[in-house]
Amino acid sequence: MSALMQTYARLPVTFSHGEGVYLVDTDGRRYLDALSGISVTNLGHAHPAVTEAIQQQAARLLHTSNLYHIAGQEALADALTAVSGMETAFFCNSGAEANEAAIKLARLYGHQRGVDKPAVIVFENAFHGRTLATLSATGNRKIQAGFEPLVSGFTRAPLNNLAAVQQIAANNPDVVAVLVEPIQGEGGIRVADDAFMQGLRALCDDRGWLLMLDEVQCGNGRAGHYFACQGMGVVPDVITTAKGLGNGVPIGACLAHGPAATVFKAGHHGSTYGGNPLACAAGLAVVNTVVNEGLAERATAAGARLRQQLTDGLQGCESLVELRGRGLMIGVQLNRDCGELVGRALAAGLLINVTAGNTIRLLPPLICSDDHLDELATGLIKLIRGFE
Ligand SMILES: Cc1ncc(COP(=O)(O)O)c(C=O)c1O
Repeated sequence: MSALMQTYARLPVTFSHGEGVYLVDTDGRRYLDALSGISVTNLGHAHPAVTEAIQQQAARLLHTSNLYHIAGQEALADALTAVSGMETAFFCNSGAEANEAAIKLARLYGHQRGVDKPAVIVFENAFHGRTLATLSATGNRKIQAGFEPLVSGFTRAPLNNLAAVQQIAANNPDVVAVLVEPIQGEGGIRVADDAFMQGLRALCDDRGWLLMLDEVQCGNGRAGHYFACQGMGVVPDVITTAKGLGNGVPIGACLAHGPAATVFKAGHHGSTYGGNPLACAAGLAVVNTVVNEGLAERATAAGARLRQQLTDGLQGCESLVELRGRGLMIGVQLNRDCGELVGRALAAGLLINVTAGNTIRLLPPLICSDDHLDELATGLIKLIRGFE
């Protein structure tokens, strides 16, 4: 029996290494990676810029502590604020921690404004992480069940329903912030409408609330802009990021703008590893590569091509309900649960994922060539047609 706690239902494969968009298993078999470790290895596996940055940093300095200034952390904060229009950054190690930072920031902001029990509006089908606060913010009972009592201070609305949010605004004077994924990942690749996002921005401005965006899955170039909100016509007060920021090296960040940028003072929040020299070297290599190589723009073009191929190839396919997404964050919803396609894809040398039961989730690396996209589309169309 394995000495690991059985928290994951793992697929029967172990990878030994990766090369760009391919992973190679311990028997030497190659797989096209259309999942990128769930939106993490956006630059592909063993990207030379990231590898070199990590190697050089590892040979010089891994860790000091946030008791001291960290040059690489300053550099990464500069790069992230420049690319996002945000003003300040707090570094941590994961998406859940980035959202914890945002939730704490919102509560402190509320207290500073005289709200004793600050509340955050969150959404149905949202996913924000597995810590107690972030699973309480998550809109999926399966994630919460068994871990009650949940953290209080969240109030939930349906996505893309501004009237529901306005109604909460009218009835709940304790609200201080809204936390939303511009594109819900775990929830089934559900895109927040531009008008909804802009409506949230206007409501937050009107009420003095913080608009906080969880871009842990959709950020770092994946949805066609460095951050997805940049294609939706909104400037938020807070953006959380992680996953793709380190291309596999654990790092997360909570970015803030306007009044939110200066809410935290010394002693309010912290993390031993957060923003350490190694993680920041990886993060800086990622941001520079995404920007310098135009990978967000590539995600738009590649996503459009892939969606067109899937639309054409799935013409007349009865099980297809909808193709959704932005850039290289694509959901293919079928008319019934299709989790078994993951195993079938694996057997065919293709790594995909199914979320929300019936939605195939595609998160291929942003460095995909047209040939890779063709390979992915052909493999996927065959799988879906074989599932009819
Ligand atoms: C939108 C979103 N937020 C937060 C998280 C949690 O990130 P992590 O697993 O790094 O804690 C995830 C992970 O899937 C996510 O997709």
